[in-house]
Amino acid sequence: MKNEKFNFDELVDRHNTHSVKWDKCENDDVIPMWVADMDFKSAPCIIDALKERLEHGVFGYASVPEKFYSSIINWFERRHNWKIDSNLIDYTTGVVPAIDAVLRAITKPGENVVMLTPIYNCFFTCIDSNNCNAFEVPLTYNDDYSYSIDFEALNKALSDDNTHTLLFCNPHNPAGRVWTRDEMLKVNDLCLKHGVTVISDEIHCEMVMPGHDYTPFASISQDAQNNCITCGSPSKSFNIAGLQAAFIVSNNPDIKTKVNKALIDNQVCSINPFGLEAFMAAYNHGESWILQFNDYICGNFQLMRDMMNKELPAFHITPMEGSYLVWIDITPTGMTSAQVTQKILDDGKVLVNDGAMYGKAGDGFIRINIATQRSVVEEATRRIINAMK
Ligand SMILES: Cc1ncc(COP(=O)(O)O)c(C=O)c1O
Repeated sequence: MKNEKFNFDELVDRHNTHSVKWDKCENDDVIPMWVADMDFKSAPCIIDALKERLEHGVFGYASVPEKFYSSIINWFERRHNWKIDSNLIDYTTGVVPAIDAVLRAITKPGENVVMLTPIYNCFFTCIDSNNCNAFEVPLTYNDDYSYSIDFEALNKALSDDNTHTLLFCNPHNPAGRVWTRDEMLKVNDLCLKHGVTVISDEIHCEMVMPGHDYTPFASISQDAQNNCITCGSPSKSFNIAGLQAAFIVSNNPDIKTKVNKALIDNQVCSINPFGLEAFMAAYNHGESWILQFNDYICGNFQLMRDMMNKELPAFHITPMEGSYLVWIDITPTGMTSAQVTQKILDDGKVLVNDGAMYGKAGDGFIRINIATQRSVVEEATRRIINAMK
């Protein structure tokens, strides 16, 4: 419906729904703000599509129709000016399985896979399960608590004889950056210079705060397009991660053949019929929902940041350009991030992530998921402030 206003303030009780995020809490009074999923209902267009599928009543194996591919192509062309050839898209069950399959396709055991850290923890497990070495290039941490790329260090890592792959995260979890076209052009130049292929995880791409623009890595130039494999899904931005559907765009046909083989070797056969419907509904009809979602998350961030800046100056908050994950430097407290995480849980009854899980550069930070109702963000922030005072 045009001009529909979505109610992100509506509280949804997720207890007893087998939710990973909520089940981890030992007590009902703990507010979980760790794993990256949202406490909002999905967009009505998604719920309607699922209801219709459910009403059919038969849930056998599903095949992937042409309109699955066109939903991706139309969305990225319309919203992000990236033209994708449908012959170059594969589907899979998630972005982590996608990355795992791509690494399987293009790396050999013992090779380095370079990452800009701190970075999403499952990148380490995928690299590990493919018997490669996680080569961490720490991002530069600036005086205003933002992050930028240390191009000199990146150049050095990419020039290593044992490096053939960069695992990139755009926008970046957890450093909060939505990379600019200029930054990515520089990354791409270095990768081309050293013959390094880019895998770009773009699962956070729709969640961008006002004033920032997401640019697909593969769209920045023809060279980048040829040298990059994109892994994505509407799952994170539309809160349908449990339905498990994702895509891979391999712009180079030889790589596409290898990726396809890796997916088959990993026994990815058919798509979840509910995942399929939710995926297409999100990309075909979800635009106004995600735009309103981004405004709401921006308000949540401002609320948490302002309360903490006022009452908890020992927490240094990184500017959040995208996603809904707040990244906070807690080193001025004189405690470790493990200690702070535990104190916030014990004394504040809020469950957050210890930044140390995102690589060495994440030690001394915590990550807080604010994709929840404003009243919950306010209550959790109050509890964190009281616990840490
Ligand atoms: C950067 C990034 N990639 C992938 C995932 C998970 O993807 P999936 O659930 O589709 O495997 C996450 C989840 O938080 C993430 O932050």
